[in-house]
Amino acid sequence: MRINKMLGIALAIAAATGFSVSSAEAKTTVRISHTQIETHPDHIGFVAFKNYVESKLGDKYEVQIFPNGSLGANEKVLEQIKLGSVQFLSVSTANIESFDKIYAVFSVPFLFTSEKAYEEFVTDPKVIQELGVNSKKNGFRPLGAFTAGTRNFYSKEPIKSVADLQGKKFRVQAGPTNVKMMEAFGASATPMSFGEVYSALQQGVIDGAENNELALTDQKHGEVCKYFSYDGHQMCPDLIVGSEVFLSKLPAEDLKVFEEAAAEAQKVEFAAWHKRIDEAKEQAKQMGVTFIDVDAGEFRAKVLPLHQELLKDNPAMQGIYDKASAFDAANK
Ligand code: GCU
Repeated sequence: MRINKMLGIALAIAAATGFSVSSAEAKTTVRISHTQIETHPDHIGFVAFKNYVESKLGDKYEVQIFPNGSLGANEKVLEQIKLGSVQFLSVSTANIESFDKIYAVFSVPFLFTSEKAYEEFVTDPKVIQELGVNSKKNGFRPLGAFTAGTRNFYSKEPIKSVADLQGKKFRVQAGPTNVKMMEAFGASATPMSFGEVYSALQQGVIDGAENNELALTDQKHGEVCKYFSYDGHQMCPDLIVGSEVFLSKLPAEDLKVFEEAAAEAQKVEFAAWHKRIDEAKEQAKQMGVTFIDVDAGEFRAKVLPLHQELLKDNPAMQGIYDKASAFDAANK
């Protein structure tokens, strides 16, 4: 059989089984997917991941990063992660709470009162381990976290107090807890994928959205929404998740390298985030966005009664909720 033909058959088998080998050296291709642009801290973190893996095991693995949701929205890519045809993904905890209710803990509004407590919490390897308790069943495993800052409301009209949210429609990330949160605020929730938000804002399908400052600049939402109110209702990390099929088949020494690469990516992403966020705020001001410092205590008081209701509906998150509360108390 000619070499070319053999290679063709190998690639066809690889495509069918979800494993792929890149041509000449028969390296394993590792695909990483995310929905951000190339200057976003998540992308910078994944570049560090790629460099780490290839510096240690470049003879065996070629790491390819697919930004901008080019492999699909996170909800769709998760299916490929489960099959093993995509190996890594950064995904907001809100998007995976429908697969495993433990991740809903980060959607509990005002779980943390300080960003410091949240950062300490998500960078603790024991926390990541606890979140991953059902990984085998879920088909994906958390290996680390990227910060995504704090989530705040932004809109075409200024939101100065909870009263300004009444009766308005806000896009939220997919995940049942977000719908309850918006109801508790007296507004309505329109869940949709990240990539659809810009046109929904532009066409007036929604009055506003909620996110960190980079949504204004990177996703250009600041072209439509000129008011961003710092209420800080949520801090949801983007978890670095790996495909369980892929990870469970790795030799122990290779798995260690991928785990170290995730730790390196996390470190690099946090540093990039803190640098980028101040720049993004300036950039958004240039776009004409006004930042409003609201009384976050008023927003918090409005939704605090929801905590007990959410815990009652979802006892799976009680343990991790208690741990988060303890971190919050210790990091005022
Ligand atoms: C942030 C977060 C993403 C998430 C997005 C969203 O950008 O980093 O993971 O998908 O918000 O609101 O959908």
